[in-house]
Amino acid sequence: MKGELKDTWVLFDLDGTLTQSEEGIWNCARYAAEKMNLPAPDEATLRKFIGPPLEYSFRTYMGLTEEQAEEAKRFYRERYTTVGMYENRVYPGVRVMMRTLWKAGAKLGIVTGKPAYPTGKILEYFGLDKFLSAVVCATDGHAEKEHLIRKALPEDAGETWMVGDRCFDMEGGVKAGVHTLGVTYGYGGEEELRDSGAERIARTPREIIGILCPEAKPERGAFLTVEGPDGSGKGTQIERLADALDRWGYEVVRSREPGGTPIGEKIRAILLDRENTAMADETEALLYAASRAQHVREKIRPAVAEGKVVLCDRFLDSSVAYQGGGRELGIDKVLAINAPAVDGTLPDITVYLDIDHRKAMARRCAASEPDRLEMEAESFHARVEDGYHELIARDPGRFVAVNAEGTREEISEEIREKVLGRLMEMEQ
Ligand code: TYD
Repeated sequence: MKGELKDTWVLFDLDGTLTQSEEGIWNCARYAAEKMNLPAPDEATLRKFIGPPLEYSFRTYMGLTEEQAEEAKRFYRERYTTVGMYENRVYPGVRVMMRTLWKAGAKLGIVTGKPAYPTGKILEYFGLDKFLSAVVCATDGHAEKEHLIRKALPEDAGETWMVGDRCFDMEGGVKAGVHTLGVTYGYGGEEELRDSGAERIARTPREIIGILCPEAKPERGAFLTVEGPDGSGKGTQIERLADALDRWGYEVVRSREPGGTPIGEKIRAILLDRENTAMADETEALLYAASRAQHVREKIRPAVAEGKVVLCDRFLDSSVAYQGGGRELGIDKVLAINAPAVDGTLPDITVYLDIDHRKAMARRCAASEPDRLEMEAESFHARVEDGYHELIARDPGRFVAVNAEGTREEISEEIREKVLGRLMEMEQ
């Protein structure tokens, strides 16, 4: 659908339309109250802070005098410009929506009542700036949407849509003579949006694609895997990475191998059963591959094609390391067994938690009873570790190898930065 939306402009409001900003706004209002020795505002009061100018909110909702409101605003800003503006999240599905419209040729812009400094920083932080042809913020007290919309558009702009979650966005759009699309997942309801002139309503960011470009297929998502020896701390790190991806507006589908589908989970039970001591190495490798074949077709491919990010605990690399290395079937034999299973579907990014297998096993055994594979001798796990290192050497571009012997925080920070950096590059 390339070029389908050429000459079309789509202008977005920021808070409540692309980003969900209450966490930062509330924390900063609480901080200002604390600094001024005032009682902490309750949730109902805090809710009202999203939208109107700050000074107005402090005076009206917290009963401050003009002078006090000025002071409260200074404290608020002090925290907001350093911490608060990043206590923010992109609504799930916003990234794929913006990317799909952008790839279809639309010019995207932001019109926001926020000042320029936090707006620019927030857009850059979340890597949304690359999709934008215009960013218009409140300047010199001019925050009316009509004015901002007119300022964002070039003279020759074709069909234009204003997308927002509040009556101010819809009214501004109507006054500026552009089409209006209201979103109900933000801070305004459907009634408010319709009453203020919304021509169309979207309940999710994805529905915006359907309204503005019904023929467009969503842009491809991504396939991420996390690998490492038993006891490398994958579980915690996957949890944290999923949270970060969610905050950045990716729609995350979590999965695991062996398993990930009802059929795959049945195969998993056979594989990990401690009683199955008679299992031949080849049987084991084929069962992992069988579980994977189902997983690729039933879950991974459809989700990635819909623009989602699949985050999977183990995949093909585990077979290469455990059956190829650990069981000594050899890398090439295991890759050959898996070729029809994966059928070309390989991870875009693989996080490898790098830890000495002895340290990892000590951690693992302290946590719970070992399963059939974990019960293997130390030499088995040493070969698994070597197998992983061989894979990284063969395909360094795909791996994000992280030293997994640091603190949980250090590890998750490094993974988050590296994975988000790569994903955002893939969106270009
Ligand atoms: P699991 O309980 O998921 O372990 P972990 O939390 O360490 O991932 O069990 C999966 C076990 O299966 C693990 O020991 C690694 C092994 N495995 C293989 O041997 N080959 C494979 O292809 C996969 C996916 C896993």
